[in-house]
Amino acid sequence: MKDKYQQLQAMRVKALQGGGPERIEKQHEKQKLTARERIKLLLDQNTFQETGMFVEHRCRDFGMGESQFLGDGVVTGFGTVAGRLVYVFAQDFTVFGGSLSETHAEKICKVLDLALQNGAPIIGLNDSGGARIQEGVNSLGGYADIFYRNTRASGVIPQLSAIMGPCAGGAVYSPALTDFIVMVDQSSYMFVTGPNVVKTVTKEEVTSEELGGAETHARKSGVSHLVASNDVHCIAQLKKLLSYLPQNCEEKPPQLIYDPTDESRPNLDTLLPSSNVLAYDIKKVVEEIVDSGSFLEIQPTFAGNIVIGFGRLAGRSIGIVGNQPKDLAGVLDVDASKKAGRFVRFCDCFNIPLLVLVDVPGFLPGTEQEWNAIISNGAKLLYAFSEATVPRITVITRKAYGGAYDVMNSKHIGADLNYAWPTAEIAVMGAKGASEIIFRKEIEQSEDREKALLEKEQIYAAKFAHPYKASARGFIDEVIFPRETRSRLIAGFNMLEQKVQHLPKKKHGNIPL
Ligand code: HXC
Repeated sequence: MKDKYQQLQAMRVKALQGGGPERIEKQHEKQKLTARERIKLLLDQNTFQETGMFVEHRCRDFGMGESQFLGDGVVTGFGTVAGRLVYVFAQDFTVFGGSLSETHAEKICKVLDLALQNGAPIIGLNDSGGARIQEGVNSLGGYADIFYRNTRASGVIPQLSAIMGPCAGGAVYSPALTDFIVMVDQSSYMFVTGPNVVKTVTKEEVTSEELGGAETHARKSGVSHLVASNDVHCIAQLKKLLSYLPQNCEEKPPQLIYDPTDESRPNLDTLLPSSNVLAYDIKKVVEEIVDSGSFLEIQPTFAGNIVIGFGRLAGRSIGIVGNQPKDLAGVLDVDASKKAGRFVRFCDCFNIPLLVLVDVPGFLPGTEQEWNAIISNGAKLLYAFSEATVPRITVITRKAYGGAYDVMNSKHIGADLNYAWPTAEIAVMGAKGASEIIFRKEIEQSEDREKALLEKEQIYAAKFAHPYKASARGFIDEVIFPRETRSRLIAGFNMLEQKVQHLPKKKHGNIPL
């Protein structure tokens, strides 16, 4: 009996060594933690329960039979984060470069299946050279098994991906199918085809970092949602993100204890500039509204003209979408529509109420936008809001012009409560543009055109550049002082706590992808 216990102990010790001390040292030299160190940081102390520690690959080609590492390059299991159950897999770069074999994939599938069946988030820590080259199609099959499960789990449980090393080829599609991607700066990259193939096919010379590093995906492609400065920061970001989310689509997000002493926010009365052509930072408005220090911005460096993120209002998680007047005057364009549309759908999947702050001059004109399908992309945001059944409250701070007024969670597309500040301007377009069109002849015929235009602008503004026409029609429920915004929102979301709304029976909708 003692022998048998010793055998188990020896096997455990072996498995814990991964690819061995040399490869672990190499990993550390690259400022990267090992798979096990990452899991230890992620989970509450002593909660990790491993599955598949002794799994071995089945490949016998290229001498692989003699090269076995217990666990086969991925550490899998479950544990808790802040006391809540999560499932986790962490690829171990010290074993065959974390490459994905058939058995490695089976281990990931096993925790994905458990996560889905038991209704808890799955967190993937990716660090892999891609398909295990020695295994050929078995490895490709393994990837597809994972993609299939990611898709089936989508909208049922939150799926978070951290990219903490290489992630290339078709391997990128598992993270892409998940809800959020956090990339570690300088030590991770994601691309479908690497720099060498790019050079051969397109003659472009580009480094891995330029092609698919964390900054590239945070600024240019929008593939990544958060950038971390190192592994420790990455794990901290994952934990923070999780704190806003429910365990699954049947639950509500956790609610923190709430101190109701600071509901009035007088600073909001002074945040807007005196002129409606001057910019301001919508993030300052967000920070004044939400519980102090609770705003977590998502995709902060991509499509800056729209701001998205999580926050808390009286301890309750909310998703926030706001036009950013400081960036392109807060106009809606292709990237902003895609960014916000996906975020709205995520919040709707997971019962996270939506707060929408509107200051939008319209859609961005131009051939670039039209040829990049602003029509279908703008429709994504429209679709996402129209389809969302979570509590939805809109606050128009300033401009709400044209089609963008409709799109930005207007009453007409199902918002529950629509507020406007006295500074709101709800119209087909700005006073100048409108006057140039509808009073063109009169202006052309006048002796002093500039003066005539100004006069007409004033007439148009007096008629439409305010919230009272819209509130007279009931499109706005109340015009409120900015300082009242927080208390109105707390009361509004409280009132909507039990909201039940069902979509018409269907297999699924057909969002304009
Ligand atoms: C098997 C691999 C491997 C792989 C790395 N290794 N990638 N083994 N299959 N895909 C092994 C190496 O042989 C080495 O073993 C160890 O992992 C560490 O690799 P190094 O090259 O020493 O590390 P580094 O210099 O940091 O370079 C990392 C790397 C490079 C950039 C990831 O290893 C690399 O280019 N690998 C191949 C990437 C690739 O082409 N993958 C296939 C992509 S196609 P030893 O024993 O020396 O420690 C794909 C299709 C998926 O993934 C499709 C899904 C639908």
